[in-house]
Formats: sequence, C-alpha cells, structure tokens
Amino acid sequence: MKNSESIEKRRTFGIIAHPDAGKTTLTEKLLLFGGAIQTAGAVKNNKIKKTATSDFMEIEKQRGISVATSVMAFEYGGKQVNILDTPGHKDFAEDTYRTLTAVDSVILVIDCANGVESQTEKLMEVCRMRNTPVIIFVNKMDREGKDAFTLLDELEDKLDIKVRPLTWPIGMGDRFKGVYNIYEQNLNLFQANKTKREEEIVSIKDLNDPQLNDIVGDAFADELREELDIIDGVYDNFNREAYLEGKVAPVFFGSAVNNFGVQELLDTFIEISPSPIGRESDARYVEPGDSKFSGFVFKIHANLDPKHRDRIAFLRIVSGKFERNKFYHHVRLDKNFKFPNPTSFMAQDKSVIDEAFPGDVVGLYDTGNFKIGDTLTEGEKMMYKGIPSFSPEIFMELENLDPLKSKQLDKGIHQLTDEGVAQMFIMQPGNRKIVGTVGQLQFEVIQHRLINEYGANCRFAPKNYFKACWVTTDNKTQLDSFIKAKGNYLAKDKDDNLVFLAETQFLLNMAEQDYPELTFHKTSDFKLETR
Ligand code: G4P
Repeated sequence: MKNSESIEKRRTFGIIAHPDAGKTTLTEKLLLFGGAIQTAGAVKNNKIKKTATSDFMEIEKQRGISVATSVMAFEYGGKQVNILDTPGHKDFAEDTYRTLTAVDSVILVIDCANGVESQTEKLMEVCRMRNTPVIIFVNKMDREGKDAFTLLDELEDKLDIKVRPLTWPIGMGDRFKGVYNIYEQNLNLFQANKTKREEEIVSIKDLNDPQLNDIVGDAFADELREELDIIDGVYDNFNREAYLEGKVAPVFFGSAVNNFGVQELLDTFIEISPSPIGRESDARYVEPGDSKFSGFVFKIHANLDPKHRDRIAFLRIVSGKFERNKFYHHVRLDKNFKFPNPTSFMAQDKSVIDEAFPGDVVGLYDTGNFKIGDTLTEGEKMMYKGIPSFSPEIFMELENLDPLKSKQLDKGIHQLTDEGVAQMFIMQPGNRKIVGTVGQLQFEVIQHRLINEYGANCRFAPKNYFKACWVTTDNKTQLDSFIKAKGNYLAKDKDDNLVFLAETQFLLNMAEQDYPELTFHKTSDFKLETR
C-alpha cells in the first residue's frame, strides 16, 4: 500500500471526559462495534477506583492496564481506527494533556445530568490550544438529566465552542424513546441492551410521516418536530470545514452502557474526522505525506516487572514510514538508534510490527534514552513542539532516608520525572530536590516506585509554594540582582532553566513589579522557542 493510502485510511483520536462520564464504557462499545472485541466487559476499567488512593495494587493495576490499553486499533468502514487511551484519574491529567498532542481529533463524553464538569473544561482548553476537532457525545440519556437545549447552551458557554446537534433525543430517563438522526434522517428506537448490538432503525424521510406518531406517540412526535424546527432555526447547518478547524463541535446523544447512539457516533466519526495531520516542529511544519520518517515520544511507561528496568516509549509517527531495525536519529542525544522490537497494541494484544505509518503509535523498548517530547528523524535536526509543562500545583521536598542509596534515589527520580510522572526542580545549596505534581496521588506512586524499582527509601516534606515560574530575560544586571535577593526561592529545572518558586500570588506579583525586565512564565512554553 502506498504511504498516501495508509495515511488516508487512519483515524487517530482520543476519548476524553470528566471521570465517571462514561469514557471507559464508550471505548469498550466502540471496540465492540468495530469488532475488536466480542463481548462487553473485555476492557478493564482504566481508573483507580475512587476510594483506593492508597491502594498500591490498584496503582499497579492501573499501570498495567494503561500499557495494555494504550492504543486500541481496529478496522471499521474501510478505516483503521486508533484510539489512544487517556488516564481516567484527574491526578494524571498531565498524561492526558500529553496524549492529546498525539491525536488528530477527540470525542468528548459528557454526562447528561452533570453537564460540563471541571475536568471537561480543562481538557477542552488543551484541545483549543491546538484547534483539535471535537465531537461531543452526551451520555446516560437513559437517566434523568438536563434538558437537551440547556445542555447545548452550557456546552457553548463553558467550552467556548459552537455546537451543532447531529442526533436529537426523544425524551429522557424513563421516558427515553430514542434518537432521531438529523444527519441521516432516520429514527433509532431505544431498547436497553448492554451486551449485544441490536437496534431497530426506522427510516423516516419526512418528519410529517404519521408513522412517527405511531412509533413514539403523538406528544413525543409533536415535541420532536417542534424541537427540530428550533434546531434548524438556531444552529447553522453542519459544516465539516469548521469542525476540522476546531470551531464547531457536532453533538450526539445516547447511552453508551446500553449501546445506544454509539453506531451513529462511530459512523459519523469515520465519515467526518480528519486523517492524520502534520505537526509543527521548531524547524518547519511537517506534513504526514513527507517521504522521510519522523515522530515524537508523547508517553513513557515503566516496565511492570521491576527486575527489568526497561521502559516503553510511545512514539507517534508524523511523517514517512517507520521501519523495524532501521537506524533513526535521536535528535536531542544526537545519536542513532534502531529498534528490533517495535510494538503495536491491538486492543489487548501486543505484537511486533515491521512498519508503521503516520497516525500510528508504536511502543519502543527503551533503557533510559527517551524523554517525553523526544523526536526521531531520518537525520534532520528538528524537534516537535508538544504541550508545554504547566506549573505544578503541589510541591514536596524529596528526602533521602538511606544515605547509602543516594545514587539509586537520584537515578530513580530522574527517570521517573523523564517519564513525566512529576516535575523536578533542584535548589542550591545541597542539590535539594523539589518535586512538583498536579495531584497528591503521584507522590504515592513515586514513593512506591522508588522503593520497589530502585530500592531507594525516601520521604516527602510538604513545601508551601504556590507556583513555579520559569524566568527569562535579556537584562543581566536585573537578573543578577533578582538572584541575589531571591536566592532561597530559586531552583533549576532538569534542563538547567531558572525557576522561581513563589510562595504566594502576592510575592509573585511583587517580583514582577520589582523586576519588570524579567519574564515569569507559568508554563514551559518558552523553551520551545529557545530550544
Ligand atoms: P469513565 O471511564 O468516564 O470514568 O466512566 P465509566 O465508563 O467507568 O462509567 C462510569 C459509570 O457510569 C459506570 O458505572 C458505568 O456503568 C456508568 N455508565 C456508563 N454509560 C452509561 C449510560 O449510558 N447510562 C447509565 N445509566 N450509566 C452509564 P459504575 O457503577 O461506576 O460502574 P459499573 O459497576 O457499572 O462498571
């Protein structure tokens, strides 16, 4: 198959949601409809159950599951669909942000009762940074929830994106009758069904067809006609270009657990979603059709077996063809590597692959050479731009409890932060290490892994920092005086960039006022320009 055909065939996307909205359930149903699994229940719930924050077995399980389900690929409608999994727990949100750099579009799942929740908003902000096309699936229509129009308003308001319903619910909760497919003009009747796919589709080309009344009853039929009239009046016709530019999100209604509305979603997704798109690098924009191979690492996963320290680096292919056993250039290290066992993940199965194309994700076994954001090419010196690191929200100082194991501790914390589990800032004097994360759970994961994988015993002492800001300037005199005054609050990140650890918003404002020539960056974005 020619490269261009392989590219056109692929659809690489992620499913995002606030925890509990139904991401896992929808993923499973898509796999079921796509024929990748035969029965429901095959995909394990990829989340740490709410109460189990200290249950390390759960953390281990989560890690195991997320390796197995990192990429789920299946063929459907002549396309190869690659679903990239995103962690369900909010403390792993950074992982999700990074995964979003590797997808070409997303499906956002909303719970019809809860509407837009905090995590939904954050995830959408990240999508908007890259104008990622979004399809919205309003889930749990078999339960009482918000009125559909209210939900659409809330989506537009809180997510700052225009919406366009492509299916429309008839009733809700106990009175849920089904969805009308505005796009296809047919009616799909609801019957609760958790295991099989079996639906009754009635084609109604003319909404005034009395058959509609016979099927759903007069009241619902009239309401549907009225509501569809309103939709036509209020919302512009669906425009695929606007969707591809991330300006409008088509909306579907359904109930994932009951297999309802999923077929419409999948069929439309196949039809409208983008094939692999190119990526911006620090040298140029790289098109997927470029003949030379290139790709970037967006996720690193430690091996579950502590006896084998190797890790899996997940590489998204941006351009050209990736081939097994061919030498590729690791741009940051300026070294060439070849990969004898590149792995693809098909639902639960792993297999070694010989080649892969733009849009694909391959797992590369790694002994510590990769960091998140690393780029592989056929020799060209360029680095892909990713999602920047955000300032962490919780800071702790790492304390060594076993002086004889300081080397192991050092190696462990470096490797774990390379994986993106947390960020590390080093303070002087004494090389004190401050670890920053977005969630408490990561500290438990780090402590557990340091002892189990590196034999290093440690403790975390809380630090009351409010934000870590990367500091840049051209004014050396002002920088020197800042360093002199704020020495106790300064650290270096792992790439040797200067970071100010501000204790409060007030102190940060003061620093900005007192040193107007310095720029205090809240994200590591600036590194992309200076790299
Ligand atoms: P997540 O990955 O987004 O966190 O959500 P997940 O799919 O695990 O779904 C969260 C809960 O919502 C699950 O119930 C799931 O069964 C339920 N759910 C998903 N889709 C629907 C739907 O369309 N209608 C209704 N009524 N419920 C739905 P749980 O009790 O937490 O887990 P389980 O014991 O059912 O697996």
